[in-house]
Amino acid sequence: MDEEYDVIVLGTGLTECILSGIMSVEGKKVLHIDRQDHYGGESASLNLTQLYKKFRPGKQAEESLGRDRDWNVDLIPKFVMAGGELTKILTNTEVLPYLEFTQISGSYVYRDGRIAKVPSTQMEAIKSPLMGLFEKRRARNFFEFVGNYKEEDKSTHSGLDLDKNTMTEVYLKFGLEPGTRDFIGHAMALWTTDEYLTEPARETIERVIMYLHSVALYGKSPYIYPLYGLGELPQAFARMSAVYGGTYMLNKPIDGLEYDADGKVCGVRSGDEVARTKIVIGDPTYFPDKVKKTGERVIRAMVILEHPVPNTENLDSLQIIIPQNQVKRKHDIYIAILSSSHFVCSKGHYLAIISTVIETDAPHVEIEPAFKLLGPTKDVLMGIAELYEPIDDGTKDHVYISKSYDATSHFETTTDDVKDLYFRITGKPLELKKKKPATENP
Ligand SMILES: *[C@@H]1O[C@H](CO)[C@@H](O)[C@H](O)[C@H]1NC(C)=O
Repeated sequence: MDEEYDVIVLGTGLTECILSGIMSVEGKKVLHIDRQDHYGGESASLNLTQLYKKFRPGKQAEESLGRDRDWNVDLIPKFVMAGGELTKILTNTEVLPYLEFTQISGSYVYRDGRIAKVPSTQMEAIKSPLMGLFEKRRARNFFEFVGNYKEEDKSTHSGLDLDKNTMTEVYLKFGLEPGTRDFIGHAMALWTTDEYLTEPARETIERVIMYLHSVALYGKSPYIYPLYGLGELPQAFARMSAVYGGTYMLNKPIDGLEYDADGKVCGVRSGDEVARTKIVIGDPTYFPDKVKKTGERVIRAMVILEHPVPNTENLDSLQIIIPQNQVKRKHDIYIAILSSSHFVCSKGHYLAIISTVIETDAPHVEIEPAFKLLGPTKDVLMGIAELYEPIDDGTKDHVYISKSYDATSHFETTTDDVKDLYFRITGKPLELKKKKPATENP
């Protein structure tokens, strides 16, 4: 470790691994360290032993759950948006040979006490119980507006100005009912609160377009998912980095940073060793005195089931969104459901991960509406995560810190953070050019 590097990266979460992978490919000499004995940091997938050790110290997993190696339980429940930014990064780097993706089989939304599939085809839309006949016609007008919208052609704007009119005004223009607004804003635009209603409509419309585009790519749902769990994503970038000379060390304690006379970071200490560097990148857990709480706390419950989720046509994987309005909350509740067909649990089991932003002193009570949808549970492991962000942008001391993974259901905010960090570090926007055509598609 007593060497000189261009960049030292602390923590092997997805954000850090994408950056170290890209910088290795760009020819930087990268050292990547994790104090834990496995890859993935806060975005790891854990085996049974690791899972129980983290969430229920002192207790072992029941034997009936099967073998350790059959389990890869994600610490953050997110799916990959098929048409989103992470997919762009995946396809424009050289990580695809290390990954195998599958589709998530459906997306469901909670309305008036029950769940229904978010239609992914015209046929499903016509049959959907989510709307009555007349509301379906109004909704169709809205989706035609979204589909035909062209920035340069005013005749497609329906008299609306997406930078001035709020989303509420757009809903009113098409006469959409409150339940339909919840559905569009939360199950398609994937907002976690209702704050978007009073904002200019553009971002919501863009999100709906991205959702429809993602569904259109593979059908069924807008999401794809890597076999063996999300922890495969950082590992794929780590493998790519290694091909370009990146050095990886797991299980390595970090004992502090060293600074030069100008206050810029110049080394990372581990025991008696010091590795020299010009830049340090890392996740918030490595820099307690350089980060602050965002004020948001997230509850995540990993629920082991022995049956598919009721009322979902026995799907092997899906997302359920409970819009906040429907259960008198301020933040949506998400449930990510996976099964042994994704190699994240043993045969005969299903894994449901419930998450939401905490609003009261009794977070476990807040997620009860989700449990009601799941039926009997085999075991439940719960954790609460405080979210952190850096105090400074890192340009002063050259220590660049990522944000904690938030409560959204996908990686779009994570890739925003990657791009933001890359810009702060290099002064240039992140541009990925495809080196060679990807041979594998999801
Ligand atoms: C599960 O995790 C433990 C602790 O990190 C590790 O020692 C063990 O090898 C893992 N088991 C498998 C099958 O990967």
